[in-house]
Amino acid sequence: MSGPTYQQLDMDETEKDKLLPSEKGGVQCCTPTRFTIATLSGLVCLLTAALFCLIRYPVAPRSIGNIGRTGSIVFQKSSEDTLMGLISDIHLDPSPRDCVGNSKYGVFGCDSTLGLLNVTLEDMARNLQGSEDRALLMLGDAALHQAEASWDSSVTLASIVTVFEQFEHHFPETPVFPTIGNNDLPTHNSIPEISWYSSLLRYFEESLRRGGRVSLPSNFREIFMYGGYYSATFADKLTVISLNTNLFSAKVPDRNTQKGYAVSHLQWLNETLGSLAGEAVIIGHHPLTLSLYGLYQKQAGQASWRLEFFEIFREIFNQHHGKIVGMFFGHEHQDTFVVERNSGVDMASFTFPSLSPIYSGQPSYGIAKFGESEPNGERKLKDIFTFHTWLDYYTVLDRKPEFLTYRSFGQILAVKDLSFDKMFKKTELIIEGSDGLKTFIALKGKIYQERYVPKLSPHLFYCYTTNFTIAAFVQCVEKFGYSGKPFIVNS
Ligand SMILES: *[C@@H]1O[C@H](CO)[C@@H](O)[C@H](O)[C@H]1NC(C)=O
Ligand SMILES: *[C@@H]1O[C@H](CO)[C@@H](O)[C@H](O)[C@H]1NC(C)=O
Ligand SMILES: *[C@@H]1O[C@H](CO)[C@@H](O)[C@H](O)[C@H]1NC(C)=O
Repeated sequence: MSGPTYQQLDMDETEKDKLLPSEKGGVQCCTPTRFTIATLSGLVCLLTAALFCLIRYPVAPRSIGNIGRTGSIVFQKSSEDTLMGLISDIHLDPSPRDCVGNSKYGVFGCDSTLGLLNVTLEDMARNLQGSEDRALLMLGDAALHQAEASWDSSVTLASIVTVFEQFEHHFPETPVFPTIGNNDLPTHNSIPEISWYSSLLRYFEESLRRGGRVSLPSNFREIFMYGGYYSATFADKLTVISLNTNLFSAKVPDRNTQKGYAVSHLQWLNETLGSLAGEAVIIGHHPLTLSLYGLYQKQAGQASWRLEFFEIFREIFNQHHGKIVGMFFGHEHQDTFVVERNSGVDMASFTFPSLSPIYSGQPSYGIAKFGESEPNGERKLKDIFTFHTWLDYYTVLDRKPEFLTYRSFGQILAVKDLSFDKMFKKTELIIEGSDGLKTFIALKGKIYQERYVPKLSPHLFYCYTTNFTIAAFVQCVEKFGYSGKPFIVNS
């Protein structure tokens, strides 16, 4: 059977560079050495550069930023909604390094500058206005990227503290629910000591208590100091369960120590959901799903969580799914979702894009809207909006970045709320329709790292979007005539 081939995914470093002309800033053909060769080649170089600029930069963001093809996305909110800002993978580099150069708002290939975080939070604060009930969910990796070999925990901490100061500055009355990412650790992919959690505790607790509308359980500190996770209830309406997904990560080398912490964490989750009276939102850093980044970049079906922990999680989810209204993760710097039906229970997980433009994604943030649904007044996740700026455009013009409303999952899927069963049914319906897969990819597959993304086979994309585990993904792609081999790297 001659199915589609893997070639579409092949992209080595050279090709990646071609796709990322402005990553390191400046026009790359015009290095000083080139100018010494000959006047003629210099001239050619200048002409090429001019042409390149002409083609690349006069594009107004508005004509591309919006999903466009399906009409404009409108950010709708009402004063009754609970609005939760979503921000992920800020990766703040507080002291501009060589990488950032003198661009106040940052450049592709580098982590976020303070200037970028500042304008983003300003825009977010503006969009969150109008509702009494508002909060922020921070999906991890506040800290900058560092070389693993020379990791400096004081630099990490300083970066995190600066992010929290910015939250306080822009949201003096609004609580922030943070979560810990893999870069927010004393060393990369480690299981931290209590002392690390205790240095974060103050900032986490202060940001949760800001505005006085969040209630914390009496054992909040004890639990947080042990494992860096917590639950906290907003305005007696919605409980946020913040997982420390580092404890489930497939990249932690010390599996024995990890297992003890991971199992206690999951027990705590089961008990917390068991004793919960209202609804909960689950937030974390590493997504439950396979990595879309891995699929694009490494042609690999990679899972962020170790399978054994994901399986326990799913058991707990299946038992308490009626109380969970949404699950949000970061880590991948991509805007996507995955649905799956398991033992008759539908699950959907959203992965949120980054603020950091390091992998050439347009800096993004989101707003999740919760409200009571008709006819029975249950609280539901009604929609998620994504906003992003057009960094290359504003950087070249040296203007303060503005943000566009890019995506509404509710408007794309034409559903009144994003409950798990609706998400699952609707995704299946779209995919099964005539031309459905193509539409689906046009709607959902349009992510921000366009320069990075090779054309991905619709089947691979489909299997990714409807299966959480490597085994399920492989089974799915095999139906389309692929052999699973290049897609399995860890399990
Ligand atoms: C943040 O933006 C405000 C204006 O909106 C400005 O006054 C302030 O200096 C900015 N801070 C940083 C760190 O860029
Ligand atoms: C979750 O807790 C319930 C009630 O205590 C128990 O029956 C169930 O086995 C637990 N599930 C897991 C996965 O531990
Ligand atoms: C993978 O996704 C497809 C499409 O939804 C589904 O038919 C299949 O059952 C899934 N695989 C598993 C093992 O759940």
